[in-house]
Amino acid sequence: MRARAAVLAEVKKPLQIWELEVDAPKEGEVLVRVVAAGVCHSDLHYIQGDLETPLPAVPGHEGAGVVEAVGPGVTRFRPGDPVLFVFRAFCGQCFYCLNGRPALCDFSNPIRRTGRMFDGTTRFHRNGADVHHVLGVSCFAEYTVVPEQGLLPLPPDIPLDRAALVGCGVTTGVGAVLFAAGVRAGESVLVIGCGGVGLNVVQGAALVGAGPVIAADVVPQKLDWARQLGATHTIDPREQDVVEVVRELTGGRGADYAFEVIGRADTIQQAYAATRKGGTTVIVGLTPMGTTVPLDPLDLLRTEKTIKATLYGSANLPRDIPRLLELYRLGRLRLDELISRRLRLEEINDGFEAMLAGSVARSIVMFEH
Ligand code: APR
Ligand code: ZN
Repeated sequence: MRARAAVLAEVKKPLQIWELEVDAPKEGEVLVRVVAAGVCHSDLHYIQGDLETPLPAVPGHEGAGVVEAVGPGVTRFRPGDPVLFVFRAFCGQCFYCLNGRPALCDFSNPIRRTGRMFDGTTRFHRNGADVHHVLGVSCFAEYTVVPEQGLLPLPPDIPLDRAALVGCGVTTGVGAVLFAAGVRAGESVLVIGCGGVGLNVVQGAALVGAGPVIAADVVPQKLDWARQLGATHTIDPREQDVVEVVRELTGGRGADYAFEVIGRADTIQQAYAATRKGGTTVIVGLTPMGTTVPLDPLDLLRTEKTIKATLYGSANLPRDIPRLLELYRLGRLRLDELISRRLRLEEINDGFEAMLAGSVARSIVMFEH
């Protein structure tokens, strides 16, 4: 079949809308009609060349859709099923999966590394030439093919644009608080960077009753949104010293938990400096490849801080994604408010520009079929 897709042909250039040939799903694969796809900063990392992936390729890893067809051997899905993409397809049987850490499963490494399905071929082509997959999802396309292990079933009552956000930003951000850090009521939290992911760290902290919840961002609008999602205090680092203000708000100690949700060496150091003795610095943002941060082991020892990182919110995806959706149903988790803008596929580059300009929490591409 033919499908339009936003293609990354060259780094540091806007995505191009190409009409692709999409192959039928092979053994163990599923063809999905994409309904909604979030514009996440990780896609921008590929566009800017901060993260590498074989090109040309179809990015997009935060999305939801409806199963169109299944390949031989697929037992878990049928045409018509609403589904969520997971950007770390997991086997369900290995050490990590059995220990509730599917994001650490190695199953889909070959797809992520080569941009090709397990048999070494791609399901996207243009004029006979291969177009690659990204993270085994590639949902910036009207139709995409993924391994069945890269999908989770969605309940029929959750709108697919809201559900899409749970495929990356919500699970990463809320999960960082609930599953990676295990923040408890009354503990103090600092969140540096309140974009699509950071706002979810803020709402996760509010959800567990943390306090104070201190949000820092260089864009005032982001601080407004952070307050709406439960931040008790906000800091604009251009006007105030983040570490100083955090100490003032925490009895001079620093935050119990400091989350870095941008992916920069300087703000990771800032988060560490703002963490109290015995507290935890949590790295959520993806740094460009090759970034290093100096570590003073003597300071680490004397302060007994913990530095930890979290991938995909350290979530046990098949257990925790239904939980997050249930919290949305109950009105405890906000998804509607996170969508600042809905775009057509042709407008996708506006979504990245708006992200860079800081004017959106999340833009979401809605496909018209
Ligand atoms: N101090 C505070 N905030 C900053 C600073 C700074 N020095 N520099 C940038 N920011 C803010 C931006 O204003 C923006 O609100 O960080 C936020 C980043 O958010 P987004 O661009 O929306 O990115 P998001 O999708 O939230 O992803 C954040 O997490 O998963 C990773 O790959 C992702 O590395 C990215 C990070
Ligand atoms: Zn993402």
